[in-house]
Amino acid sequence: MQHERVETRVGLLIGLTLFAVSIGGMVEIFPLVFDRGTQPIAGLQPYTPLTLAGRDIYIREGCVGCHTQMVRTLRSETARYGHYSVAGEDVYERPFLWGSKRTGPDLARVGGRYSDAWHQAHLYNPRSVVPVSNMPAYPWLFENELSGNDIAAKMSALQTLGVPYTDAQIAAAPDQVKGASEATALIAYLQSLGTDMRQYSSVGDQP
Ligand code: HEC
Repeated sequence: MQHERVETRVGLLIGLTLFAVSIGGMVEIFPLVFDRGTQPIAGLQPYTPLTLAGRDIYIREGCVGCHTQMVRTLRSETARYGHYSVAGEDVYERPFLWGSKRTGPDLARVGGRYSDAWHQAHLYNPRSVVPVSNMPAYPWLFENELSGNDIAAKMSALQTLGVPYTDAQIAAAPDQVKGASEATALIAYLQSLGTDMRQYSSVGDQP
């Protein structure tokens, strides 16, 4: 009887339908209004000028085509690489470099795993340290020098997007990278990967 009363009055049916749908809408929309977005993990540092320049070389050379930076929440992954990746460690990543293809190992936790000298030998010729490696050699990275011309512009673009660089840091950046080899910048970047997550144990702790 109740149903018949509603279903035979089109206006009432529309009104009650909108009411029912709006409850669902509010349950979904209201929390978003008060959501502060993904928060950085404690102590997360933005890239230094040198590591930022290294990151751009990582992008230019297509390293992301063979390496992920995304440790999944599987036992086999955390046992091999360390703590699984969390959103809060990537808030300053623009664009993120999670990747999807693992010809080589995941690099999200590679910082500090090898010495700078190992990375130099490996980038110059991977087979000098890993005889079976099929990673390409990148000898030109040791010849090219950074000019430092574009680093301030890149940092202020990131600042606009919310990365907490100060104006003083941006002003000092060109001198900090000028003259460094591309290999030095790339290795500084690799050595920084995952270091902010060190404070959390490899499996248990939640940032
Ligand atoms: C064609 C695929 C390919 C590309 C492109 C590639 N790599 Fe690799 N990479 C590998 C493979 C395979 C390994 C494992 C063997 C080895 O250590 O050389 C590896 C290993 C590594 C390792 C050691 C990781 C570990 O935990 O042992 C680092 C660091 C690395 N690559 C960095 C880079 C960087 C930086 C670039 C871009 C300049 C790059 N790779 C491009 C395939 C690739």
